[in-house]
Amino acid sequence: KEIIYLTECHSTNEYAQQLLRQKEAGEGMIIFTDKQTKGKGQRGNRWWTEPGMNLTFSLILEPKFLRSNQQFDLNMVVCLSIWEVLNQYDPNFVIKWPNDILHKTHGKIAGVLIENSLQSQWMESSIVGIGLNVNQDMQIIPRALSLFNLTGETYDLWVILEKLVQRIEWNYIRLKRGEIRLLRNSYLKNLLNYQQRQLFSDGEVFEGVIIGVGEDGKLLVDKGGSIRSYGFKEIQYI
Ligand code: BTN
Repeated sequence: KEIIYLTECHSTNEYAQQLLRQKEAGEGMIIFTDKQTKGKGQRGNRWWTEPGMNLTFSLILEPKFLRSNQQFDLNMVVCLSIWEVLNQYDPNFVIKWPNDILHKTHGKIAGVLIENSLQSQWMESSIVGIGLNVNQDMQIIPRALSLFNLTGETYDLWVILEKLVQRIEWNYIRLKRGEIRLLRNSYLKNLLNYQQRQLFSDGEVFEGVIIGVGEDGKLLVDKGGSIRSYGFKEIQYI
């Protein structure tokens, strides 16, 4: 496995993008840094973390066996894999659709930013960017949580990186083998508030129930007896 370690960079996703453009990247390549100066988060946000304390990396994949309408399968594999590793440290983590891992009571520990490129009907390459709070003590963002905050222990970032990459690669192989239904079931089992009544907002606040995730990656919600599907920007909940 090829790991590129950078003491500092703008964004490991951007760096990976550059390698792909220059045809210098291959499947399985990892870009890992101690400090990002322009870390990218979801919805065009910035991703801030304390330098040297947390895991900040991108993994390059070439999921050419996936159609362009199956991009969410990869997201599911990545979120489930992070959850599986974190579950070894604490049993109370959950996946929040579509890009976060939270602790049931203490807040957000990890975020994912996957950037795909497509080749007509098929996926071409995928940059899987992961930010996972490990040893940071200070809370830069309210309700941010690190493993250290939770357990009082500090961890070797390389060990956790290795575990994460192994788990992602294992589940990625399962996806390639066609085990999508099994992966989907594990994903749903660990999804925040799955099949539970909760408040949402889709412009208006309502009480509904998450009943699944569609093949297109949209969230399926029972809203007063009718089933609605929501894209990432169309719904909010805690
Ligand atoms: C989020 O929760 O908003 C997603 C955060 C994703 C952050 C990671 S850190 C490594 C990779 N490089 C980036 O610039 N962003 C992702």
